[in-house]
Formats: sequence, C-alpha cells, structure tokens
Amino acid sequence: MADIAIFYVSVHHKNTEKLLKNMCSGLEIDLYNILENPDVDISKYKVFGLASGIYKSDYHKKVYEFLEKNINLPKVSFLIYTSGIGGKNYYKKVEKFLNEKEIKNIGVFQTKGYDTFGILKYIGGISKKHPNENDILKGKTFILDILNIIKNK
Ligand SMILES: Cc1cc2nc3c(=O)[nH]c(=O)nc-3n(C[C@H](O)[C@H](O)[C@H](O)COP(=O)(O)O)c2cc1C
Repeated sequence: MADIAIFYVSVHHKNTEKLLKNMCSGLEIDLYNILENPDVDISKYKVFGLASGIYKSDYHKKVYEFLEKNINLPKVSFLIYTSGIGGKNYYKKVEKFLNEKEIKNIGVFQTKGYDTFGILKYIGGISKKHPNENDILKGKTFILDILNIIKNK
C-alpha cells in the first residue's frame, strides 16, 4: 500500500482524471475517484491529495461531503485542480476548509482543462487540448516535489 493517496472528482471532460493518471503513473500513489469509491478508508494514509475540476469557482461539492464524512483525516494534504480559465485562487475555499480541521496544505498545482460549460459550448469551448503534455510534465514535477517533501519530514 502507498503512503499517499489522491482523492478526486472529475465529471466535466475527465480533464482532472487524465492529468492525475498521467502525472502519477509509475509512482507509489493510490488514486481514488470519490464518486466511485466513496467509502475508502483515508485514515490509513500519511498524506492525502485532493483533486477536482472547478465548478463555479470551487472544488466539487462531493469533495466537501467526502471530507465531512471522514473523521480521521491525515493531517497533511496537497491540492490539485483543473479549470477552464486557469484561475490561480480556486483552491482557497477548500484550503480554508482543511485549515479549519487543522490539516496543513503543503502545495498546490493547477492547470487549464477543456471547458464547454454553458455558452462556451457554442464557441467550441476554451482551453482545448488541455491538460496537454506540457501541463502533465509540470504536474509530474509538482508531485515529485511533494514526494521529496514527505520523504524529508
Ligand atoms: C458546471 C461547471 C462550472 C464551471 N465553472 C468554472 C469556473 O468557475 N471557472 C473556470 O475556470 N472553469 C469552470 N468550469 C470548467 C472546468 O473547471 C474545467 O473544464 C475543468 O477542467 C473540468 O474538470 P473535469 O473534466 O475533471 O471535470 C466549469 C465547468 C462546469 C461543468
């Protein structure tokens, strides 16, 4: 079993799932789609990541429900998200939520994801082809940094 797991929601175009599967491939990290595995025991991990597409400026509500349901959350976390415009502050609400539970956030990675929400579909969407190879490469660097931080703790 890995010491680290990432729990994610990815419902629009599977952008976040594509990013995670590629950036974490070959690494000792367990990936769980929260919608398919709502009852995983998160307490057995030392560190956990939370990943989501951004839906109306925030993480998916199922991420919050998952956190509320689990009382024995590990005390160290990191955050990953994809969004149509690549907004830099979309993690603030979930970070606040974690901090209120005395969980430390040790890093944030975000990148763009193909977005056809609402009227955007009439123009063919924005951020087409994202996350692309370069985004995934940056994600890989991020997750390797996280693994190093944890190793040296
Ligand atoms: C209902 C909905 C609301 C969205 N709201 C935002 C938003 O506020 N800001 C943004 O940049 N992108 C927004 N998007 C675009 C998604 O964040 C983007 O496509 C993301 O990569 C989706 O990830 P997923 O394919 O893993 O679900 C929204 C998409 C949907 C479906």
